[in-house]
Amino acid sequence: MKIVIAHSEEEFGKLAFAEIREVVYQDPACTLGLATGSTPIPLYKEMVKDHQENGTSYGKVRTFNLDEYVGLPKEHPESYISFMTRNLFSHVDIDMKNVNIPNGLAPDITAECARYSSLLDKVSVDVQVLGIGANGHIAFNEPGTPFDSKTHQVFLTQKTISDNARFFDSIDQVPKSALTMGIGEIMNAKKLLMLAAGSNKADAVYKMIKGPVDPSCPASILQKHPDVVIVLDRAAAAKL
Ligand code: GLP
Repeated sequence: MKIVIAHSEEEFGKLAFAEIREVVYQDPACTLGLATGSTPIPLYKEMVKDHQENGTSYGKVRTFNLDEYVGLPKEHPESYISFMTRNLFSHVDIDMKNVNIPNGLAPDITAECARYSSLLDKVSVDVQVLGIGANGHIAFNEPGTPFDSKTHQVFLTQKTISDNARFFDSIDQVPKSALTMGIGEIMNAKKLLMLAAGSNKADAVYKMIKGPVDPSCPASILQKHPDVVIVLDRAAAAKL
């Protein structure tokens, strides 16, 4: 586990991007696992900047996102497909045919989870970007989720609903459920790039790195992955 600490938001983005750049430069047809939330935004800014300044191409890159809300129209600004389009996809030369995000509007949610899982079975994600919830969740795998889980529907905890309410006009508008890649599938990625910023993440970061590997902190399973880079800001690293 490599842990790096950034002293500014810009440095945070640059340190995270250095890990992605290495993978994309080595294999322009690589597979990236992507994440939403406020934390990866500095990374996506660096990817866009590098694409504009250096012409790094995403034309052959495939992407798999971690999760999506159930029932939110795709054009809703807080759907994860909207988030990704706004922050990354519309600014680089990615082929949208190579973009994969679970479909939270699928009429048969069980079949949609099976479809996403079978896609993931056939690929090898070169690097998976991750954030962490204040309760230690990764993607939408809430505390208690088995470590070998596959893509599934989750009902969000009250903590996650209230944490994510800041993105919506009111807490009642936060979807109660989501589709998420499972922890087993996340752990299959060749490399994990965990990003955490802010003092509200300090406890979860401590448990992820120093606590027991236990489903009560889903992110603690990262201790068992052979290639993990964790980029933190000083506030998120404060309890280490
Ligand atoms: C959401 C997402 C997670 C993300 C987490 C932290 O619940 N499903 O993938 O890591 O929130 O988000 P933020 O980066 O905004 O703190």
